[in-house]
Amino acid sequence: MQTRVLKGNKAIEEAKKLLDNNQIVAFPTETVYGLGGNAFSKEVVYKIFEAKNRPQDNPLIVHTYAKNQIPKIAAYVGKNAKKIINAFMPGPLTIVLKKSDNIPYEVTAGLDSVGIRIPENKTARKLLRKIGYPLAAPSANLSTKISPTSAEHVFNDLNGRIPLIIDGGESIVGIESTVLDMSNDTPIILRPGIITEEMINNVINGVKQYKGEIKSVPSPGMRYKHYAPQVETVCVNSKEVAIRLINEKSCKITLIGTSDFVKDIKGVNIIDIGNTDSEIARNIYKALHNAEKVSDFIMVEYFKGSQIKDSVMNRVIKAASHTIIE
Ligand code: TXA
Ligand code: MG
Repeated sequence: MQTRVLKGNKAIEEAKKLLDNNQIVAFPTETVYGLGGNAFSKEVVYKIFEAKNRPQDNPLIVHTYAKNQIPKIAAYVGKNAKKIINAFMPGPLTIVLKKSDNIPYEVTAGLDSVGIRIPENKTARKLLRKIGYPLAAPSANLSTKISPTSAEHVFNDLNGRIPLIIDGGESIVGIESTVLDMSNDTPIILRPGIITEEMINNVINGVKQYKGEIKSVPSPGMRYKHYAPQVETVCVNSKEVAIRLINEKSCKITLIGTSDFVKDIKGVNIIDIGNTDSEIARNIYKALHNAEKVSDFIMVEYFKGSQIKDSVMNRVIKAASHTIIE
């Protein structure tokens, strides 16, 4: 299959034709690129799992363009869920609610709940509005690879496997949405993101971060190794450790870190991801994508100090297969 990459209105028109014809297409969102297909059709949803090599027991998020579409996707929207929807949607948050009968179990991997997101990205919303039905869409990478934040990243993984990529430039948030489960009495953050626990707690009380055993996770996706670059990746806890490893290793090294951290380090490929929370989130996947192309060993600074940095670290630690060098 030939994979086309298109921009602008032409891309949206082509995408609509393909989607109306039960095909799947990659599209930009502000978090990461998604690989979408009609969420009401189990045959279409099956194609998404196939193109990504994704295990069938990992549920997909359903994307729509407006709050008034949510009752078609969720069976019930409680008072607190409404508050969350009004506070954070459209935006980088996915809310998990009891699913409506319109959503096939193929989308939710057999669960009675469904993840719902309204992207803020203009291209994504234009597309969703134009087609009229919601799109089930995971991130548009091959399963176990790093999430894509540009059309080029999608192309590198899915060329030949999907008919179309809509190129909407770089994703400005840069990490996947916060997943907030409100399908039970206690709201739980299943995946941290740039909408933080603190921000959610300002709207409703008593939200918890999921801290359970990996074996019994309520979000099946947490079981899988995700976001891993193709070369050995570690986290480094201090500059001293980074310098020690640089001196010890004789392979091509890339160091990814904040501007302050990488400032006077020399002799290796440096990727400076900025200093602010939003810069760090926006640049991390791009940095990992670039690093894996040019090096044999990747070191990433262990950044701390805010809930958003913790959310970014959640991805980095997975990329590093939990290897933190002190
Ligand atoms: O920012 C994002 O969320 C991107 C863009 C494309 O919207 N999508 C994304 O999808 O990251 P994906 O499939 O890579 O991650 C979805 C996560 C998985 O960890 C999955 O297990 C969880 O959301 N999830 C989806 N539906 C769920 C449900 N009903 N209950 C619990 N977890 C769910
Ligand atoms: Mg993903």
